[in-house]
Amino acid sequence: MPTMGCFHDGHFALMRDAAERADTVVTSLFVNPLQFGPDEDFDRYPRTFLEDREGARANRVHVLFAPDQSLLYPDGFQSAVLVKELTRNLCGRSRTGHFEGVTTVVAKLFNIVKPTVAVFGQKDFQQLAVIRKMVKDLDWDIEIIGHPIVRDSDGLALSSRNKYLSAEERQSALSLSTALKSARDSVRAGLVDSGSIIKKAVETITSVPFTEIDYVSIVDEKTLLDQDIVTSASVMALAVRVGKTRLIDNAFLMANS
Ligand code: PAJ
Repeated sequence: MPTMGCFHDGHFALMRDAAERADTVVTSLFVNPLQFGPDEDFDRYPRTFLEDREGARANRVHVLFAPDQSLLYPDGFQSAVLVKELTRNLCGRSRTGHFEGVTTVVAKLFNIVKPTVAVFGQKDFQQLAVIRKMVKDLDWDIEIIGHPIVRDSDGLALSSRNKYLSAEERQSALSLSTALKSARDSVRAGLVDSGSIIKKAVETITSVPFTEIDYVSIVDEKTLLDQDIVTSASVMALAVRVGKTRLIDNAFLMANS
C-alpha cells in the first residue's frame, strides 16, 4: 500500500483493509518529488515519520518501507511510466506531470515490493483509475482494490493536506462534501442534466469564503471523460483551493458509495 505518510484514519482504514486480504502488509512511505509541480507543496508536505511508524504498527502493517530519495531515484534516473488518456482531464489538466510522477513511483514500488494485491483510496479517484489502467496495460498480476473515502464526522474527506487549513478554512472546506451530497440529492430527485448539477455545486462552493474552484466535473467512472447526462457510471469530481490548500473530493451520483 503506497503512501506519502502523515497518516490519518483514511490511511489506517486502507492498512486494515490490506491486512484482511494478505498475510503480509507492506506500506511504503515516500514523499515522491516527481509528482509535485515546481509551485506545489513538496517542501512543506507534512513529514511525521515517528508517529507514522507507530500508527502503521497499530494498524497491522508488517513492513513500513520508507526509502531515501537516492534509493528510488539515484543520479541519472531518467525513466517514466505514463498513462496517456486518463491523465488528460480533471487533475491532469492543472497538475502537469503529476500523474506521470505517480505512475512512475508506483511502478517502481510494485517492482520492488512485488505485491499480489494493492489497496488505494477512492478519494484520489483519478489516481485509482490511472493505476488500474497501468496495471492492466503493463500486464501486472496485481489485484487493485479501491477503498471507499474515509470522512470526518462532518463530511470532510480526510487528507494529509487538511493540516494546512485554518479553522475558518476548514469550515469552508465542508462546502466540497456539501456540494457532492446535494448533487446526489438532485439526481435522486430526477435531475440528470450535468450542466445544472455542476452550476449548483459551483454556487455552493463559491458562496463560502476562501474557495477557488479548479474544476467541478461530472465524468464517466472508467473513461474519466465529461458527461452531459448523468448515468449510473457518473462520478462528480471536484478540486478546490481553500486558501492556499488544494483539496479534492468525489462521489458517485447514483450508486451507493
Ligand atoms: P497519499 O496521499 O499519502 O495517499 C495514500 C493512499 O491513501 C492513496 O491510495 C489515497 O487515495 C488514500 N487516501 C488518502 N486519503 C483518503 C481518504 N480520506 N479515504 C480513503 N483513502 C484515502 O496518494 C498518494 O499518497 C500518492 O499519490 C501515492 C499513491 C503514494 C504515490 O506517491
